Amino acid sequence: MNSQAPRRTAGAFQGYYRRDVPPEDTRLTHVGPNTPMGELMRRYWQPVCLSSELRDLPLALRILGEDLVAFRDGQNRIGLMHRHCAHRGASLEFGRIADQGIRCCYHGWHFDIDGTLLSCPGEPPASEATLKRNVAQGAYPAREANGLVFAYMGPPEDVPEFPVYDSFGLPGVDLVPYSIHHDCNWLQVHENLMDPLHAVFLHSRMGEVQLTAAWGEMPVTEWSEHNDRMYYVTTRRLGDKVWVRFNEVAVPNFGQVAGFWEEGREETWFQRVGATRWTVPIDDTHCWIFGLRHFSDELEKQGIGNKALVGRNSLDIYGQTGERPYEEMQRNTGDWEAEVSQRPIAIHGAENRGSTDRGVIQLRRSLLRALDEAPSPTPAVDGVVPTWTSNTVMTIPERAGEDDRDMLGRIGRAVVDAVIAADGFAPTDRAARIAAALKEIPARIG
Ligand code: FES
Ligand SMILES: [Fe+2]
Repeated sequence: MNSQAPRRTAGAFQGYYRRDVPPEDTRLTHVGPNTPMGELMRRYWQPVCLSSELRDLPLALRILGEDLVAFRDGQNRIGLMHRHCAHRGASLEFGRIADQGIRCCYHGWHFDIDGTLLSCPGEPPASEATLKRNVAQGAYPAREANGLVFAYMGPPEDVPEFPVYDSFGLPGVDLVPYSIHHDCNWLQVHENLMDPLHAVFLHSRMGEVQLTAAWGEMPVTEWSEHNDRMYYVTTRRLGDKVWVRFNEVAVPNFGQVAGFWEEGREETWFQRVGATRWTVPIDDTHCWIFGLRHFSDELEKQGIGNKALVGRNSLDIYGQTGERPYEEMQRNTGDWEAEVSQRPIAIHGAENRGSTDRGVIQLRRSLLRALDEAPSPTPAVDGVVPTWTSNTVMTIPERAGEDDRDMLGRIGRAVVDAVIAADGFAPTDRAARIAAALKEIPARIG
């Protein structure tokens, strides 16, 4: 029997010929030990839980296909270890947190946070001495920042700098940590960040308006890359105002999105980040988003955001978690179900991509390149890594006789140039210098 698809493509009930699902793109999607993407991810500090989840009992975790346990010992140090005890495998989630490290529940073996075997109390001294020389519990370095616990799961001789981004510690901005569990592969969640078209449809036109009406305007979009970053710039016309939104991702799984509630009514210059996030694989078919929601009077002047809704499996933005009624998911679909429903691992070989998928394609290519050679990280200035994510709204009316889409494209590019040119400026005055450069654009373009 020949079940090959015939050449024709339009209609004609082709289900029979289009049933086969090709295998997933394993290089990009598989993340366990010794996989190419898993090894790349292990070269970066990754969030693994919220600080608030480390209380008086150990926390069982699964990250990058490894079963782990996390805890905060009596000296306020974070331990992150392989879950199964090096003695005979009992789970350390049932262990006793000690002043120094943790003790296994089963035979009392005592490990320091770096995995050193401190004692095995049931053993005679000579046997204990031999065991202490030869046994270590697998452990990873961990640290806290902004209410998230980060771990480095790569080779201990190559621990990278812990990146401090310029969007942390801005005056008047509160960072609220959150996490969201997804029942699917990490990449389809992460690549949503380079797919601005979905905001027009999923968030604005296919159901209720989930953010603001301005998102429903069709933007002119550009994607590009610089160092370890990829970004998109969307430029929308809203009456005599032009809204330029600049979002970025960094290899392999970092991303930032600009403030969420822009209405495009008032001039705004380099308004910063609405959320910083890392899409962290649990295993090949589950992941967490760990994030920081940014709140400030300026970002929240519309009064829509709500800090009280930000936390574990909870965010103050519609459609981000899997904990809504199924009927609501069907009637007013959000990011969570759109992404998770792309299959447990989205099948790239079954996609029929269009020109608006350019960002997703480019993101995958940049990750494939990084598997061969990781890109240089964006250099820090005075210990702070510059980022670009921002909203800018300027007054530039439409001009008779000029193609407006063409003008919007030029405005977007001018914003990119002004923002990226400031990468080397001191963090103390960079934002002011960018805002000043942006304010020159209307006279130049208009
Ligand atoms: S299994 Fe952990 S001490 Fe024996
Ligand atoms: Fe979205």
